[in-house]
Order: sequence, then C-alpha cells, then structure tokens
Amino acid sequence: MAKEKREVWNSKIGVVLAAAGSAVGLGNFLRFPGIAAQNGGGAFMVPYFFAFVFIALPLCWMEWSMGRLGGSYGHGSAPGVFDVITQHKKPWIKYLGVMGIVGGLGIFFYYVYIESWTLAYSFFAAMGKYKDIATPGEMGVFLESYQKGDGVYFNSRIPAYSFFLVTFVANFTILYHGIGKGIERFCKIAMPLLFIVAIILVVRVFTLGTPVNPEWNVSNGLGFLWNPDFSALKSAKVWLEAAGQVFFSISVGIGTLLTYASYMKSKDDVLTAATTSAFLNEFAELVLGASIVIPAAFIFFGPVGTTEAVSGGVFGLAFKTTPLIFKGMIGGPAIGFGWFFLLFIAGCTSSVSIIQPALSFLQDEFGFNRKRCIIVLAMVTFVFANLTIFGENVLGEMDFWFSSLGLPLFGFIEAIVFTCFFGVDKGWKEMHRNSQLSLPAIFKFVMRWCTPVFLFVILVSWFVTEGWKTILMIKLVDGEWQRLYEGDAFYWVLATRICLLSVFAATCWLVKVAWKSSKHRSNIHDPG
Ligand code: ALA
Repeated sequence: MAKEKREVWNSKIGVVLAAAGSAVGLGNFLRFPGIAAQNGGGAFMVPYFFAFVFIALPLCWMEWSMGRLGGSYGHGSAPGVFDVITQHKKPWIKYLGVMGIVGGLGIFFYYVYIESWTLAYSFFAAMGKYKDIATPGEMGVFLESYQKGDGVYFNSRIPAYSFFLVTFVANFTILYHGIGKGIERFCKIAMPLLFIVAIILVVRVFTLGTPVNPEWNVSNGLGFLWNPDFSALKSAKVWLEAAGQVFFSISVGIGTLLTYASYMKSKDDVLTAATTSAFLNEFAELVLGASIVIPAAFIFFGPVGTTEAVSGGVFGLAFKTTPLIFKGMIGGPAIGFGWFFLLFIAGCTSSVSIIQPALSFLQDEFGFNRKRCIIVLAMVTFVFANLTIFGENVLGEMDFWFSSLGLPLFGFIEAIVFTCFFGVDKGWKEMHRNSQLSLPAIFKFVMRWCTPVFLFVILVSWFVTEGWKTILMIKLVDGEWQRLYEGDAFYWVLATRICLLSVFAATCWLVKVAWKSSKHRSNIHDPG
C-alpha cells in the first residue's frame, strides 16, 4: 500500500482559523467568566496576564516552532517531533512525547459527550422543552434526567445517546476529510459564524435594560465580573487557577498546536500564525466570553443569584442557569438556540483538534492511510466515550487526569525539551525563520527560565496541596481522613484509572513498535 502524501494547510488564514478554533471553546464562554468571578474578579487578571505572557504565549511559540520543524521531516506528533529535535540521538525522548498524544485523546473521550449536550440543548431551547422550568435547581433535575433517562423529564437514555452519536459522527466526518478539506474548510465557516453569533448575543445582553430591578443593570453586571478584589492575589489557589485557565483556553500542553504546526509548509510564518490565533482566542475570551453569561445572569438574578450560579461550577452555569436566563428574554427560544449552538460550534472546532495528534501519530509513524486510522480511532474513542456516558464519576476523573494535570505536565515536558534539548538559541532562530514578527529579546530569557520554572512550581504546588490526596483518593473531614469515593463510585474511579494507565502503556508500546519497524525508518525523510 502506497503511503499517503503528508497534507498541508491550504492557506495562511486557514491555519490561523483552525488554531483559533482549537483554542476558542467551552473554556472561553463558560470556564473563564465563572473562574474569574470566583477568584477576585478584575484582580484575577493580574495572575491571568502573568500566566499568559510568561507561560502560555512562550509555550505556544515553542509548540508551533517545534511542530513545523517536525512536520518538515514527516512527523506530526510529539514522539516523532522530539526525536527529530534530538536528531534521533536520544531514543528515550520519544516516550516523553506520549503524553502529547494521550492527553488530547483522553480529553476527547469525554469532551465529545459534553459537546453533545450543547447540541441537545440548542434543540430543547428552540422547541421550548424546558420552558416551564423556573429555577436552576429544577434545571439540574432536567439535566440529570436527560443524562440518565430516569423518567422525570426523559423516559430513557435514547435522546442523550442519539445526540452523542450525531456529535461523534460529525467529528469523525470532519476528520475523515482531512486537514485541508475537513478541519480547515470547517473552521473557515465555523469560526466567522461563531464570532457573529457571539457578537449578536453580546448586543442582545447589552440591550436588555433592567427587566427585574433597576440596580441589576449591565454595567453593574460587568462590575460584578471586573471590579477587583486585590486580597484574592494573596491566595496561591488564585494563581494556579489563572495558569490552568490560560492553558486550557489557548490549548497549549495538549500537543494539538504542535500537530497543527506540523502541517505548515516549511516556509510558512509560524510566529505570526501562533500569535494571531492566541490573540483571537483572548478576544473571544476577554471581550466576548466576559460579556455574555455573567452580565446576563446579573440582570435576571442579581448579585446573590449570580454568585450562586458561578459557584455551581462550569456545568452548573452552562446547563442549569443559562437556559433560564435566555428563556426570560424576548426572542428567548432563538437566543437560547443561538447560545447553545455557539457552544456546540466552539466545542466541535476544539474536539477535532484534540484528537488530531493521535491521528497524525498513526498516519506518520505507521504509514497507514487516513481512512484506516479514522476507523481505529473511532473504535477506541467510542469504547471510552461509552465508559464516560455509563460510568459513575468517570467524566470527572478523566477531566482531572487529562486536563487539570495533563496539560501543565506536558507543557512542562515541552518546555524542557525546547530549552534543554533543542536549545533556546536554535529554537529562537527556528521560530523567527520566515517570520514577519520579531519578538523582544527578553522572551529568550523568559523561555529559558521563567516558563519551565513557573510550570515546575505549579506542578509541585499541585502535588503538595492536592495531588497526593487525589492519588490516594482520600480527604480530610473534621480532622479525620476519609475515602474520597464510597461504594460503586470507588470501583468506577479505580476502573477508570486502570483504563487510563492501559491507554498510556499501549501508546508507549505503539511508539516502540513504530520505531522498530522498517516502515517507520523509511518514513523519515530529510527536507534538504
Ligand atoms: N481550548 C479549548 C477550550 O477553551 C479546549 O475549550
């Protein structure tokens, strides 16, 4: 079987929109406003800005430049890229790249299920399915009934499962068409659409007036989010939350940007593409994301109701509070549909990107054609997605290992590979090759010292404050150690951890097999 020619992006704007599509997701519209409001409001922007400039942005440039280099040698996933960077002299380094495949794959296992809820809710909003529900508590019952088919609002799991299947197939259909004709073409339509819908929603929220209380107006709503509480800056947790949010939002530390960059032509401008997509993401987050949910919740529920909504976490805000907010507006069904469809598009452009490193790994390192890789990945992800759907606590467990821990961990690995093995001077030259942008020289220092050190501090603080308890599944209640999970939940969590370790071990084994095969060696080519 002849090896397929490695794909490239069709246009410069296409790669920027695809990368922005990967970054702009549920994190911008739900996670950011909730986390910012919980962690000091405007003061949260101090650690946020710090994490953006000193960790996320440098890491983003590192990922893009290493990715483009790896791609020019025919490697689009972290094991191959790290191998190229060390000129095949350090055989063990490719195993450090395994997390850059497994992380995105693991996030996909549950992300696609959550994404399917947004599609379902867009239909529910348009059809008035929850029009008689008045409180966030009841909306919570509605969500649970939708997920479990317990007979309260839904008699079976069939609706939830059907929306999941549609979302799953939609994702693989885009992936099946490849980089240029699939992801790029989709993002070229989806991203402008996403920005248009978001702007319409912002305008609608800003013109709501004061339907409930004259004090509950849009400017006080914005104040609720942005007025700084500087005492929050003394808390280490606020700094950790800010770093976690920036990571999740820009999609660094997943391996996705590395893979997307590998499909650029060697002469393409990597620095401009990376910086433009990162700033597009910030616009979506700080301007659009911050101007929809919180101000709207404030206008309808006031400061106390908004505080409650925010403390209900990301899912609480998305699926229990926002349906009620948009329902209360003139044109509610259309606005509700628009909002959830916006989240669905944002989710889709992110989910197709997070599985791409695994797809590239199979294509590049085994020489399989795309169709075959899609079938393998669809089967694997389908099994694990079902574990998320039917298991207890599985979704939260996967989110924790792959997202909360996996992102900073792989980010740290990338920073070490870049600084210690690629070399900052060489990397700096590589990222400026054919670039219209020129970074201030201070960033050389930032990349060499600040980025890896900050990431190390974040990981160590996580381990000391939370990590060891999470690993041992214990918590301290009134001075006594208790198990974090009881009964069936404990066994589900244990089973999930065993499955995750198996995926990790299987990927390590695949890396070993790929590098042993003669097919792999013949894949490596010198771009000259
Ligand atoms: N970056 C994506 C988001 O913000 C994963 O949701």
